Amino acid sequence: MAKEKSIYTCTDCGGTSVKWLGKCPHCNAWNTLIESAAESNAPVKNRFASLAKTAAVMRLGDIEATDMARTPTGLEELDRVLGGGVVEGGVVLIGGDPGIGKSTLLLQALDALQRAGAETLYVTGEESGAQVALRAQRLGLLGSQVKVLAEIQLDKIISTLNTTLPAIAVIDSIQTVYSDQLTSAPGSVAQVRECAAHLTRMAKASGVCIVLVGHVTKEGALAGPRVLEHMVDTVLYFEGDTHSSFRLVRAIKNRFGAVNEIGVFAMTEKGLKGVTNPSAIFLSQHSEPVPGSCVLVTLEGTRPMLVEIQALVDSGGPSPRRLSVGLDRDRLAMLLAVLHRHAGVACMDQDVFVNAVGGVRISEPAADLSVMLAITSSLRGKPLPKGFFAFGEVGLAGEVRPAPRGQERLKEAAKLGFSVAVVPKANAPKKPIEGLTIHAVERIEQAMEIVRSMG
Ligand code: TYD
Ligand code: MG
Repeated sequence: MAKEKSIYTCTDCGGTSVKWLGKCPHCNAWNTLIESAAESNAPVKNRFASLAKTAAVMRLGDIEATDMARTPTGLEELDRVLGGGVVEGGVVLIGGDPGIGKSTLLLQALDALQRAGAETLYVTGEESGAQVALRAQRLGLLGSQVKVLAEIQLDKIISTLNTTLPAIAVIDSIQTVYSDQLTSAPGSVAQVRECAAHLTRMAKASGVCIVLVGHVTKEGALAGPRVLEHMVDTVLYFEGDTHSSFRLVRAIKNRFGAVNEIGVFAMTEKGLKGVTNPSAIFLSQHSEPVPGSCVLVTLEGTRPMLVEIQALVDSGGPSPRRLSVGLDRDRLAMLLAVLHRHAGVACMDQDVFVNAVGGVRISEPAADLSVMLAITSSLRGKPLPKGFFAFGEVGLAGEVRPAPRGQERLKEAAKLGFSVAVVPKANAPKKPIEGLTIHAVERIEQAMEIVRSMG
């Protein structure tokens, strides 16, 4: 087969050029040309031939709605984020920082699937077969029947997949795979995109479920995973700081299940173990309440979890800093403005740091009230009462808006022994919950007043 030549395509206007240029010759945009494999001149086969099945136009109502057959991986927390298991022909992207546990989790899952009778293939580009065997030994997977292929060349991987036709194959990682139809280095955007597109096509055509592992780069700009999100069916990301043993796997896109579902794992000596009751793992253990700490009941996926929000407000320099870990920084700036305008709490000349304990990332606005209470608690140097928690969204007009599924949040906190809460009025329960004193508020001023009267 004649070697195909590369062309460069503009990501803005779609114009092409035969050589790389800093500026697109068609639309004059800068740095938009990306290498891709040109269609070869020989009229052999179209690169998209495998997709070109002729299909008849049908009325939607006449099409039979078939549900996907799912194969559970046997790791309950992983199945939860996948929406019940892996789907035939489905493509899953799993991203996360290096060293967070992607390879460990997938090796465990493959071994469990293989033991349950499914054919599996683990393609490793980062480690040798011996290293994978060493990890399997550490995980206690004796006599594992998982097939391992140490290979990084796309054509060879695809032909092995075509001949062995496993039920599920893991490519660890997509950044190491390269297609020799492109001249750019493995791991470049062009290579990652091209290889993932071929593998996706292969999965759809053959029914093999393919899991792509993608590293998040240091800068956070995902030279790998981000550019692939639209191509795949399911996108999972690993979260958690590597210093704590807890790891969250979050589904941020799932064509076969709910998004925003999370799986919780603990990294142990023998690999990742599912944590089935994670609601209390993100609380730090203070024997007595300390200033600047407020417990939030957050709803991640289907389970409520208690997370401690910490704030430190300290006198700053001429341009005070606002920093947040695990929470949105722009939202923090907004909440500080609302605090000033509507509750008269000024932090203009103060550094403000907020942190969600345990490396969780919280994106729901229901965290607002807890963040604001933690900030004022730190500013005043007064702790919130023992057993206190809060949740609720705060709007720009100072109103406290209800959080979804408030009852579940309240019940979970009561179950864990929490006793005092400030919550949005619409979330206040009709019948009192045993052991819980609830202060329902409509505005941020009210919340501040109640907390002040507590001590
Ligand atoms: P790994 O799965 O190699 O991460 P990734 O593929 O995301 O880069 O994770 C490796 C880390 O996990 C490493 O720092 C060692 C630790 N680890 C354990 O603590 N226990 C174990 O049983 C294993 C296999 C790894
Ligand atoms: Mg790895």
